[in-house]
Amino acid sequence: MGDISVLNQQFGIAGQLEFIEAAPGMIVAQINNEQASASIALQGAHLMTFQARDQQPLIWMSPAAKLVPGKSIRGGVPVCWPWFGAHASEAGFPAHGFARTVGWKVVDARPLVGGETFIAFELPQTAIPQAQWPHPCRVRLNITVGAVLEMALVTENTGDAAFPLGEALHTYFPISDVDNVCVSGLDGVAYRDKVTGMDLKQQSGDIGFPSEVDRVYLDTEASCDIVDTGANRRIRVAKSGSRSTVVWNPWIEKATKMGDFGSDTGYRTMLCVESANAAENVLTLAPGESHTLSVTYSNEAL
Ligand code: BG6
Repeated sequence: MGDISVLNQQFGIAGQLEFIEAAPGMIVAQINNEQASASIALQGAHLMTFQARDQQPLIWMSPAAKLVPGKSIRGGVPVCWPWFGAHASEAGFPAHGFARTVGWKVVDARPLVGGETFIAFELPQTAIPQAQWPHPCRVRLNITVGAVLEMALVTENTGDAAFPLGEALHTYFPISDVDNVCVSGLDGVAYRDKVTGMDLKQQSGDIGFPSEVDRVYLDTEASCDIVDTGANRRIRVAKSGSRSTVVWNPWIEKATKMGDFGSDTGYRTMLCVESANAAENVLTLAPGESHTLSVTYSNEAL
């Protein structure tokens, strides 16, 4: 528990930010201010919950999520970095990169004048497996917890050679039921369909969820809305520095195989709209260059 008292001394904010050990070896920052509450695991700088005052939770966390060091947490906002999905050439490297399963460092935390709480995390150099990622870089995740949730993932190339960068804020949202929702904002956009072997297709109208959906929408910086008639709300995902949007619901067979969605019907209560740079939109970061992927999450009644 030594780490926790040091963290609380250095970054705790009385009545607003406290660090606790939520499970063995899993330290979580708990934020509570007048506008919202949130919790963020230091492993992966993984935001697990967010709820604005007097509103429904904005982020989905599986009731069966396991808080275990070294394992990715099912739900919240996993940070996929420095590649998205399977590695381009190395089948043995972890899916969605290594950043989500290693410990990040808190480097800043303060109350903002508007009443929000700001907290920033950095991926320590020592947490980067050199065999998987030999590129010198600095990676930071800034989170602002207020009436809306803001997250910014900043990658800086501190070396002298360019490197490829794939990434995503892989956000899980709670929904009343897959039958009641659609995602709008991607009409006419081309996508890679992971369900049919990465075929290139084009979206027509809104996206519904009558079966498994696993798509990487390309060349789009558009905001997306999750319109949920069962919960009477619209969730808005507005982003910059992100050229891909991934939309995912595993449906019953894959969710059962993964085994951490709660009951058999757990998959019906979530969907992911991920702000990414993936597939054809993987970036190249030149020496000295910095890239920021930022997203604002909000909701309103229908
Ligand atoms: C999505 C991918 O982003 O993440 C899916 O498009 C994948 O193909 C899903 O199944 C979950 O990945 P993981 O590694 O967290 O189980």
